[in-house]
Amino acid sequence: MKLITAYIQPYKLPAVKEALQKAEIYKMSVSNSLGCGQQAGYEETYRGVKHKINLLKKMRLEIAVNDNFVEPTINAIIKGAKSGKIGDGKIFVTELSRCIRIRTGETGVTAIG
Ligand SMILES: Nc1ncnc2c1ncn2[C@@H]1O[C@H](COP(=O)(O)OP(=O)(O)OP(=O)(O)O)[C@@H](O)[C@H]1O
Ligand SMILES: [Mg+2]
Repeated sequence: MKLITAYIQPYKLPAVKEALQKAEIYKMSVSNSLGCGQQAGYEETYRGVKHKINLLKKMRLEIAVNDNFVEPTINAIIKGAKSGKIGDGKIFVTELSRCIRIRTGETGVTAIG
């Protein structure tokens, strides 16, 4: 199991959700996020100023998947979120050791899907 965490541009959320649904990925957590990447949060065309960091609004998606869904999930996020401009976002994939469905007590690959 893997946990996929993605930071995307807020205006791309509808397109990412649509791409995920087309790939039959329906379970996700979405939250507001503030962050900055390698432009240190400056207006993404304005470079060179490093002494101050501005945090820009992004959306954070967390999607826990079985291993065979990792690539489809990544591909769907890229399909929906990519404009080709800086600030499009980033995807992190981490090992997920446990998952428990509270209602039933199911665990692991059964609980996650
Ligand atoms: N190394 C990181 N650790 C944690 N969060 C990050 C990291 N890199 C990016 N993020 C998060 O992802 C968001 C989007 O990052 P962004 O797309 O600007 O990445 P970037 O590395 O600057 O790439 P680009 O040059 O395409 O802008 C950031 O606002 C931040 O929330
Ligand atoms: Mg950036």
